[in-house]
Amino acid sequence: MKILIINGPNLNLLGTREVDIYGSKSFEGFLPMLRDLYSDMEIDYFQSNWEGEIIDKLQESGGKYTGVVLNAAAYTHTSVAIADAVKASSVPVVEVHISNILDREEFRHKSLISPNCIGSIMGFGLDSYRLGIESLRIAAQK
Ligand code: DQA
Repeated sequence: MKILIINGPNLNLLGTREVDIYGSKSFEGFLPMLRDLYSDMEIDYFQSNWEGEIIDKLQESGGKYTGVVLNAAAYTHTSVAIADAVKASSVPVVEVHISNILDREEFRHKSLISPNCIGSIMGFGLDSYRLGIESLRIAAQK
């Protein structure tokens, strides 16, 4: 299995940003653990603060990956363009969030992306990414 993890805006600041919500570990610090855990898989990682770059990456993922784990961060709540890119993708995309977006401000309750994903995982801290990979594994076995 070849998995692509895409992180959206401000997730490059994990470890220092709102640590009470997102924790004190950077994604770069977490990724080796994930790769060790899934040493039978190839896990690529991409982070961007730019909507268009995330869309380009989703478009490029067709034919290359078994699945995509997407944390579109704040774009989750605003980006019709990313939602459309997920819909157009031939690769299964699982939506993940570190925090439980339904237990936060009202503007975070709506995800434009969810309807176009195979499923959504939220609220488990960085473990949400691991659960995202697990869900793609299950989806690939179906
Ligand atoms: C987030 C939740 C979003 O509402 C927020 O804008 C983020 C991170 C999460 O992983 O919990 O940047 O996607």
